[in-house]
Amino acid sequence: MISKTHSCALSGLDGNIIEIEADLSFGLTGFDIVGLPDAAINESKQRIRTAMNNSGIEFPVKKITVNLAPADLKKEGATYDLAISIALLSANGDFSADATDSYVLIGELALDGRLRGVRGVLPMVITAFNNGFKRVIVPQDNAKEAAIVKGIEVYPASDLASVVRHFTTDDAKDNTSNKLKIFKLSEDDINNVSPNYSVDFSEVKGQWDAKRAIEIAVSGGHNILMIGSPGSGKSMLAKRIPTILPELTFDEALEITKIHSIAGTLKSNMSLFKQRPFRNPHHTISTAGLVGGGTNVRPGELSLAHNGVLFMDELPEFKRETLEVMRQPLEDASVTISRVAGTLTFPCNMLFVASMNPCPCGFYGSHDKICKCTPQAIAKYKGRISGPLLDRIDIHIEVPAIKYDDFEDNAKVETSAEIRARVNAARKKQLDRYKEYGIYSNSQLTPKLLAEFCELDSDCKNIMRMAFSDMNLSARAHDRVLKVARTIADLSESDQIKVEHLAEALQYRNLDKMGM
Ligand SMILES: Nc1ncnc2c1ncn2[C@@H]1O[C@H](COP(=O)(O)OP(=O)(O)OP(=O)(O)O)[C@@H](O)[C@H]1O
Ligand SMILES: [Mg+2]
Repeated sequence: MISKTHSCALSGLDGNIIEIEADLSFGLTGFDIVGLPDAAINESKQRIRTAMNNSGIEFPVKKITVNLAPADLKKEGATYDLAISIALLSANGDFSADATDSYVLIGELALDGRLRGVRGVLPMVITAFNNGFKRVIVPQDNAKEAAIVKGIEVYPASDLASVVRHFTTDDAKDNTSNKLKIFKLSEDDINNVSPNYSVDFSEVKGQWDAKRAIEIAVSGGHNILMIGSPGSGKSMLAKRIPTILPELTFDEALEITKIHSIAGTLKSNMSLFKQRPFRNPHHTISTAGLVGGGTNVRPGELSLAHNGVLFMDELPEFKRETLEVMRQPLEDASVTISRVAGTLTFPCNMLFVASMNPCPCGFYGSHDKICKCTPQAIAKYKGRISGPLLDRIDIHIEVPAIKYDDFEDNAKVETSAEIRARVNAARKKQLDRYKEYGIYSNSQLTPKLLAEFCELDSDCKNIMRMAFSDMNLSARAHDRVLKVARTIADLSESDQIKVEHLAEALQYRNLDKMGM
């Protein structure tokens, strides 16, 4: 007899329903799985057999053939254990063949019959819903992420035996205690996405210039590089950047949660992401760790920072080839991973924040400490960051060590919420201005749009001319300065870029001044 269950395979953020057909026939006993399974799926034969034995469920002693369809789609991981087990038992006549029709089954089996949590449950449940399925059974650990999806019944299960009981129980006999229970999140869990951060900009004393530059960066979506001696507060400032980004919308939160679900970085007690991510990869990270990859593809740090902040501390310490691969994703806001079976795409629309010391010892240009580095060592250190990557960073600022008086001065300290209000206003201005142009921030302005929206009057043109000769500005810096000036004008609610806006934007080109 043949029977059918359903599960789900992921490709990037999207999913496909997988039909699992099981056929039991008389003849030489055996267990074959066909339909492009990977090694982990082939090993599920052992897991399923042992899990059934240890759960008191009789394993069918017949010739078993399992087909995973569509056959041309590569299936990976141990996600199908549950769906294969139920298909087998259904084919064996343990319960009626149509009992499982409206279900998508997700879960890996442990040898004792427990259901282990798997990666990617949220996008799988979304796929199930989009394909018209009414119910999903998921491992207990994944209940919260699955329940984010409205309009589908989520049944968490802790072991195989309870799933089998769920299908064998006859509703008519009213033995409902054997049925799995539907899990629901509270309305607050899903709808309330107001931010709740444990850090705040009000904790950073002084550093007015750096804070101002960061506000501009966040307002216009400009990537930013902070240069300063050790302990000057670069990491402290960077960690607080998510707190001044606009509040998450539900769709943004859902996208972040999907990516983290696939990466396996969702904690089991977590449902929807309520905070913008802050990712801080170490400089020893591999290229695959940064952009994503591996046998069962996981998103990399670039995508884990989607809709949030990617902070690369000590930028020159990263391997050059690691930095090189970031150029395209920073441009396109998405990462494409090539594989034998085709390409996968993950979004990575984030603010890129980097920091570096001015030289290997960290004290070049410091007023208090003497730099011990040779000019060659300094040049080599700066040379580690490639020009094309720097090209994608609109704002460079110096973060000097804080003075004692700044610690005492509480007069101007602002909270993240106050700064965020100004950021929101500036972002709204950009959204309105660009709504017909397919972009939403000044950092995305193309040369054609720059000419339209960043026109300079003659005073501004004179300043730009002087900057080119005095500051050693490159042609590529020209457009960056214009974009930043546009954001500064937006923050001061001016339709026209004025001299003061341009002059401030020119200050954020520290590396050009340093001849890089
Ligand atoms: N402006 C500031 N206000 C309050 N505390 C500060 C400030 N700057 C630095 N600190 C304190 O100094 C510590 C070190 O700062 P942080 O780690 O951000 O420096 P850094 O510039 O990242 O240094 P490194 O180059 O070594 O990474 C912070 O954890 C904080 O306690
Ligand atoms: Mg640091």
